[in-house]
Amino acid sequence: MIFKYGGYTTVNIANINYGKILKGKRILITGGSSGIGLSIAKKCLNEGAIVVITGRSETKLKKVKKEINNPSLKISVWDISQISQIEENLQTIKNLLEGNIDFLVNNAGITNGTNFPNVTEEIWDKIYTTNSKGLFFLTQSICNQWIKTKERNKLRKVINISSQGGFVGATYPYRMSKWDIAGLTQGLGIKLAPHGIIVNGIAPGIIATNMQQWSFKQKDNVYFSENLLERFALPEEIAELAIFLMSDASNFIVGQTIVCDGGYSIK
Ligand SMILES: NC(=O)c1ccc[n+]([C@@H]2O[C@H](COP(=O)([O-])OP(=O)(O)OC[C@H]3O[C@@H](n4cnc5c(N)ncnc54)[C@H](OP(=O)(O)O)[C@@H]3O)[C@@H](O)[C@H]2O)c1
Repeated sequence: MIFKYGGYTTVNIANINYGKILKGKRILITGGSSGIGLSIAKKCLNEGAIVVITGRSETKLKKVKKEINNPSLKISVWDISQISQIEENLQTIKNLLEGNIDFLVNNAGITNGTNFPNVTEEIWDKIYTTNSKGLFFLTQSICNQWIKTKERNKLRKVINISSQGGFVGATYPYRMSKWDIAGLTQGLGIKLAPHGIIVNGIAPGIIATNMQQWSFKQKDNVYFSENLLERFALPEEIAELAIFLMSDASNFIVGQTIVCDGGYSIK
């Protein structure tokens, strides 16, 4: 195994238990049925939030709901690339949460590694409608509501999941869409802060999720040669950062995308 993968690295993750710092918060996490979104959802539940996770596959959502078995976890089948369904779906989410959304985590995303000069229009459109267009219109819709219903002393928050690919040269739609997200995070950070809406982002490096199927084959060996720490990360490591950004400990951070990539983008 070691010969095959080129090295051996293990990782110990420490979870910070803050003590119900998200008690009563209503949180929408797009694409929460697996990977990073699911880890964030678990952590939010642990901190006392009411959470809706979305995804295209009802089977995946139902399986997660059964496994987690927590009444504060709600599920909703929703393909975020379907822009015309946003308003109707938001009403469903509001009903599930029994109140207005406080925090939005824009996590749903798909990838395709086809690179320049072989990218087809079909690949471009598929990636962009989910990763960029879907995220934009959903955020616009929720923030419009938040602006209209601004409450004194109450912050609303958006966390956008970009990628390490959004911080290095991009020659294919996935990476370009992640640049979009980091740019939007900064732009909306500026535009929405005066309305009591804090927008920040996270740019993960390589994380062991369905998006990186190969990583599962390495079992507990997290070796990965392409970053400074010579390892990939676990979704729980991104969840830790997401909770920090949702917490009041980070209320002075605006429009930033925090890169969590083992040094890949700076090497
Ligand atoms: N893993 C990495 O190495 C890595 C690195 C950097 C950034 N990211 C980003 O992290 C985010 C989460 O990815 P992941 O790694 O956790 O992969 P994942 O396990 O494949 O999770 C993706 C989630 O998004 C959902 N989804 C995909 N398309 C959707 C759509 N159109 N509408 C609604 N939900 C949709 C999926 O559910 P359904 O399939 O049922 O729709 C799933 O719940 C993505 O934005 C990804 O780009 C991942």
